Amino acid sequence: MKVGNYEVSETVPLPPKSDYGIGLVGCGGIVNYAHLPAYRANNLNVVACFDVNREAAEQTAREYNIPKVAASLAELLADPAVEIVDIAVPAQHQLSVVEQVAAAGKHMLCQKPLSTNFRDAARIVEIARQAGVKLAVNQQMRWDAGIRVARQLISAGAIGEPVDGRIQVNVKTPWDMWPWLAAIPQMEVMYHSIHYIDSLRFLFGDPQRVSSFHAKYPGQKAIGESKTLSVWEYPGALQVLIDSFHANWSDEVSAIFRFTGTVGIIKGTIGLLYDYPNGRPDTLAYQALGEDGQPEPWQEVPLTKKWIPDAFIGPMASLMEAIQTAAEAITSGADNLRTFQVAQAEYRSAAEHRAVEPGEIVP
Ligand SMILES: NC(=O)c1ccc[n+]([C@@H]2O[C@H](COP(=O)([O-])OP(=O)(O)OC[C@H]3O[C@@H](n4cnc5c(N)ncnc54)[C@H](O)[C@@H]3O)[C@@H](O)[C@H]2O)c1
Repeated sequence: MKVGNYEVSETVPLPPKSDYGIGLVGCGGIVNYAHLPAYRANNLNVVACFDVNREAAEQTAREYNIPKVAASLAELLADPAVEIVDIAVPAQHQLSVVEQVAAAGKHMLCQKPLSTNFRDAARIVEIARQAGVKLAVNQQMRWDAGIRVARQLISAGAIGEPVDGRIQVNVKTPWDMWPWLAAIPQMEVMYHSIHYIDSLRFLFGDPQRVSSFHAKYPGQKAIGESKTLSVWEYPGALQVLIDSFHANWSDEVSAIFRFTGTVGIIKGTIGLLYDYPNGRPDTLAYQALGEDGQPEPWQEVPLTKKWIPDAFIGPMASLMEAIQTAAEAITSGADNLRTFQVAQAEYRSAAEHRAVEPGEIVP
């Protein structure tokens, strides 16, 4: 479709070969309401699944007609039909799964965050590199329609020089959907805003320095922070803002993005957050600065895809593409370590009350 003078698309194309055998490790919530609906809609080939809770694996297999429930990770990995392992276990368990998957010589899609700490995240990426297998991370917000179309517009020059990028979220998040999160000391940034960090890096590149402020809501169950305000600095005019608040008890939810440049503005809403995990399609509108120096009318862009499940095909399609080319996946492990560094720089900034360069974060 056409936005201004620019051709954009919200559709995520599959690579020439997309029938790799996929084995699932972890059959919890996100696999059932996001990974598998996206794979089914794209006719991907899920051949086996495993969960330490066998009932979860059996129920998932029944629901999605998966031919084999493995009794152990070793059994799943020994199956020659499994060519890609799709891991969706809580972050603290991911390293040990990755070690075994890499030893079996299989490619893998990991869930975000890669780990609970940067040292283990870096280890995960190094283990896959040494094993010669491709590793991608499920930072699928890059394929969410609003962000995907914004990226196409920004790359084509539709906003000119970016000067302001902001994601501002004021919602009521059902943290209880993830009971294990309550005991995690780093919560909001690592399990939620990490999507915004990754998307804003995708749109504008890596920040030079970040300043962040974190807070908890009175009486909250979780031990980690549940509110984030972060500002990123770049060498030029650009500044980025992440403003993420999850305890909005009102009936006035809002989840917006706005990307301003010298000659154009993109604004929109993140549909998923209006009713997680069902959500609705994002909205997006574009305004150009006319040659007469006056703003042209806003153009509404009719998006139809939803973050859940539609964006979840993106990281898997990109991993498959990487397997059949010499390239790395768009959200490769190496790229994701830079998202991870920004996340950890935000924590250091909040703890030490100073601006922090992401490069300060080392394993
Ligand atoms: N990308 C996203 O947008 C997104 C959204 C939600 C959750 N997640 C991530 O996905 C992961 C899973 O989240 P969820 O919401 O499905 O959690 P969940 O608690 O619903 O499911 C986790 C499943 O993993 C299983 N499991 C735990 N350790 C295992 C192991 N070593 N081997 C095999 N199975 C194991 C559990 O039995 C459970 O069934 C988390 O890392 C979370 O951060 C990502």
